[in-house]
Amino acid sequence: MAFMELLQVSFSYRGQKQLLNDINFSIHNEGITALTGPNGIGKTTLSKLMVGMLVPTTGHITLKGQDISGMTLAQIGRLVGYVFQNPEKQLFCPTVSEEISFGLQNLELPEHDVQRLVKENLPYFELEHLAQSFPLQLSEGEKRRLAIAAVLVLEPELLVLDEPTTGLDAYRKHLLGECLKKIVASERGVFMISHDNNFINRYASRILILENGRLKEHGC
Ligand SMILES: Nc1ncnc2c1ncn2[C@@H]1O[C@H](COP(=O)(O)OP(=O)(O)O)[C@@H](O)[C@H]1O
Ligand SMILES: [Mg+2]
Repeated sequence: MAFMELLQVSFSYRGQKQLLNDINFSIHNEGITALTGPNGIGKTTLSKLMVGMLVPTTGHITLKGQDISGMTLAQIGRLVGYVFQNPEKQLFCPTVSEEISFGLQNLELPEHDVQRLVKENLPYFELEHLAQSFPLQLSEGEKRRLAIAAVLVLEPELLVLDEPTTGLDAYRKHLLGECLKKIVASERGVFMISHDNNFINRYASRILILENGRLKEHGC
């Protein structure tokens, strides 16, 4: 069984022409899948459908065989983590440490486990020296790493990232790529939206292209 499956998914925003037309694909919780395509074609919309933030006009999306229309956002979020195109949208805590611990506390983990996971994740994302800093004052790269850390600490099986290289210089892109490689090495999948062809060619194991409402597989 595929980890996630999209079956005949179509979507249009209210009163607008159809944006996504009969999208079919499945992904496993392994490897790095890239979704690319021109600006404004519907990539972000498709990713929001995948995490239940939007609902298909027709068609179905299943997660581990279960239709996500019957799941709450919290249930989906435990399996699929989502990092917004603009990480500022998801940072709201007074310190970097609290940003990472917030979701864990919501899962009602014992406090010593929360603190252990925060301690482990700060150096992993090179944020240790910023533990007490205010998240919105970090650099672009640091904000992006923090947004990923705050989602990844919840151990989702699939991580969905919207344009993760935006605002990163070559070195920070390299760090992000290495971080994504570490994630898939720990038996998780990454699904990233990007039109950064160098980054995609370097890191993606599978490339999907969205064009005129339809999805095609690179090389097919
Ligand atoms: N909430 C919304 N309501 C109406 N139209 C939207 C909304 N969000 C995005 N759109 C439109 O849908 C199209 C696809 O947007 P988007 O999914 O963000 O594309 P991409 O991520 O490929 O650049 C664009 O024309 C955009 O203006
Ligand atoms: Mg987008």
